[in-house]
Amino acid sequence: MSKKTIAIALTVALAFSLLLAGCGGKTPQQAKVLKIGTDAAFAPFEFQDEKSKEYIGFDIDLIKAIGKQMGYEVKVQGMGFDGLIPALEAGQIDAAVSGMTITEERGKKVNFSKPYYTSGLSIVVKQDNAAIKEFKDLEGKRLAVQIGTTGANFAKKVKDAKVREFNTAPEAFLELKAGGVDAVINDLPVNEYYIAKTGSKDAKIVGKPLNSENYGIATAKKNTELAQKIDKALEDLKKSGEYDKIYEKWFGRKPVK
Ligand code: ARG
Repeated sequence: MSKKTIAIALTVALAFSLLLAGCGGKTPQQAKVLKIGTDAAFAPFEFQDEKSKEYIGFDIDLIKAIGKQMGYEVKVQGMGFDGLIPALEAGQIDAAVSGMTITEERGKKVNFSKPYYTSGLSIVVKQDNAAIKEFKDLEGKRLAVQIGTTGANFAKKVKDAKVREFNTAPEAFLELKAGGVDAVINDLPVNEYYIAKTGSKDAKIVGKPLNSENYGIATAKKNTELAQKIDKALEDLKKSGEYDKIYEKWFGRKPVK
């Protein structure tokens, strides 16, 4: 190697380290950001801290842990539930983490991670409602659901029911409280949390869970690499016990295996 070549090599190395120092000493790998979309009105999965307005919940803790495992910084962005898949398709977000049920229909548009939570739909009525005790009693009734959800699809199949769709689950619950509808169809753990928090004087869950559903983390169809990384991280967190810790924090018990 000539002296000139060595000098050039040194200059290049110096320039490169200055560039890295300019990024706050971080390698590009560490500076990676994972943009998450969520409809943060779905406690205990995603909601906003009353005071700080910070996004909190099981999904938020889980995706932060997944991001950390992958070496990404997680940035959460709130949006309407029915806007999540379009936002993924448009590349505005990298992943949707929003208590989103893995369905065949959605699977045509996005990739889903392995299931991370087993859920299902249930019926909520006012505490003093004696007429609705199970699924068959919903016939011809006024139902409230969140737009774009599996609960909405389910309600539309109930014979002669009048279905009203709301932008968020809390709005559907408010309508029930106001007497505008007879029942809400929504995810069971969210219904349980709502009743526990608002006090059981307002509402109650009736009947058996209507079905079983699995939540998954959705990513853009073309981004198969990210989907694989997320699955790997999720698996690691399950092995390390970190997943169980997060689960216990929000549900007060260990997950059933
Ligand atoms: N699991 C239901 C679905 O996928 C409801 C999810 C609603 N999530 C939310 N963050 N509002 O359709």
